Amino acid sequence: MDKELRSRQWFGKKGKDGFIYRAWMKNQGIPAHELQGKPVIGICNTWSELTPCNAHFRELAESVKHGIYEAGGFPVEFPVMSLGETLIKPTAMLYRNLVSMDVEESIRANPIDGVVLLCGCDKTTPALVMGACSVNIPTIVVSGGPMLTGKYRGHDISTSDVWRFSEAHRAGKMTDEELFTAEACMTRSRGHCAVMGTASTMACMVESLGLTLAENAAIPAADSRRKVLAHLSGSRIVEMVKEDLKPSDILTRQAFENAITVNAAIGGSTNFVIHLLAIAARIGVDLTMDDFNNVKNIPLLANLQPSGKYFMEDFYYAGGLPALMKELHGVLNNTAITVSGKPVAENYLKSECFNREMIAAFDKPFNAVAGIVVVKGNLSENGAVLKPSAASPALMKHTGKAVVFENIEDYKAKIDDPDLDVDENSVLVLKNVGPKGYPGMPEVGNMSIPKKLLEKGVTDMVRISDGRMSGTGFGTVVLHVSPEAAIGGTLAIVQDGDIINLDVSAGLLHVELSEAEIIERKKKLQPQENLSNRGYVWLYQTHVEQAHLGADMDFLKGGSGSSVLRDSH
Ligand code: FES
Repeated sequence: MDKELRSRQWFGKKGKDGFIYRAWMKNQGIPAHELQGKPVIGICNTWSELTPCNAHFRELAESVKHGIYEAGGFPVEFPVMSLGETLIKPTAMLYRNLVSMDVEESIRANPIDGVVLLCGCDKTTPALVMGACSVNIPTIVVSGGPMLTGKYRGHDISTSDVWRFSEAHRAGKMTDEELFTAEACMTRSRGHCAVMGTASTMACMVESLGLTLAENAAIPAADSRRKVLAHLSGSRIVEMVKEDLKPSDILTRQAFENAITVNAAIGGSTNFVIHLLAIAARIGVDLTMDDFNNVKNIPLLANLQPSGKYFMEDFYYAGGLPALMKELHGVLNNTAITVSGKPVAENYLKSECFNREMIAAFDKPFNAVAGIVVVKGNLSENGAVLKPSAASPALMKHTGKAVVFENIEDYKAKIDDPDLDVDENSVLVLKNVGPKGYPGMPEVGNMSIPKKLLEKGVTDMVRISDGRMSGTGFGTVVLHVSPEAAIGGTLAIVQDGDIINLDVSAGLLHVELSEAEIIERKKKLQPQENLSNRGYVWLYQTHVEQAHLGADMDFLKGGSGSSVLRDSH
């Protein structure tokens, strides 16, 4: 190790300053030799009982510590704000950027040479990676792992069933008691959602980017091999510090292209787009919405809910992400390096697929259509996204009359109104749920089907909004429309009865209005006030960028490195 450890700027000092830096650490029972030149490894922990998906992370951190000690490092665990997708209001996404700031400043301000990021529930992964990228010291990610598959009345279930159950309940096909019973059956173990929702998508994203050891994505949280992975990651980060292997060495353009390819093949969440764009901007890789359209020929290779049948547990037993990436060998940038310091191909070439019903061969895919399609037109000049594998083939080219909801409250008030002028060919349009319009851009884009149509057996309709959709959701849903309604995007002037064209294969989203009519209607728009005139919500609403740029704050892009700006000691 040629370069002096960053932590020596604290623990290597003589005199009063060194005394202070070391003395207070010693009140934890730390022997002097631990602070005498060992790599200090931060364990950035999003443990919280309010984030049930990450509630086992203190135990996971212990495994990481064992690995760090074994390799000759010294671990220091520290908390950052956690984001529990199910409890946080109004939406966890509002706080992703705040957590990234917490992570960035916590790493930079402390005597840390390398960092292990413990990530799990949806936003905890991008938030931690974004923050770490802006500091750029050696970093490895350990995901918490998915829950075991839920079991209800003899059926395998998980988060996507929440939408099915609630629609069945609304349609009178499931009783209150049955719904209540299903709750505990679904979440029967530690870990995050067991489908290819956003959390699993993020776990696959960090593995395909090269930020984790192989197999990180799918080992169930309750499987002892998750702890082994944490242990090995603890050992590996100590070596990474010695090699000075940083995120900027790993997160090259090739790595981002690999992540996009893998996300297509796994049928990953639409949230992937927004988070990957934000991470790329932090590390300085020029990634745009068009890059997501460049992987059109990647087929669907994972038979995972919500696009398919199985669960993350099954994925792991079938060979996990390495077995799937092996199928993509011909289309991946195989020389991109990972945290192992070796080419990504070494992570998967020796892997095997044990279940072809779960992981398909490249030439015999589950679906030739995969990935996330970006649609543009006068209704979304900067782009909007749709996930074809979760959509209805019959609706991929569709023209229909708009049924407009001005905001989420308007939608809730009208959606089940028997007098709502809507039929199965209508296009549901929800405005003002974008990054600024509903600070945080909630996951409401897969609006429920109007009750009267549900009762007629309608299960899907074209739905368009500037909001997001849960990674566990499905349907022909156009999301992330940019520019959003709240800043005067064309979405803002759509009215009931306007004709909307969606043509996914042509990449088109269009409202049949003349340019002159659009300009005329836009003149009548009222500027939207900020929701709050103080605090974080004000900061967010003032500085958040549009979805096509990753919805990061404008002042957070890029990084500031690991140097402390001023040092009073
Ligand atoms: Fe945490 Fe789904 S609620 S991952």
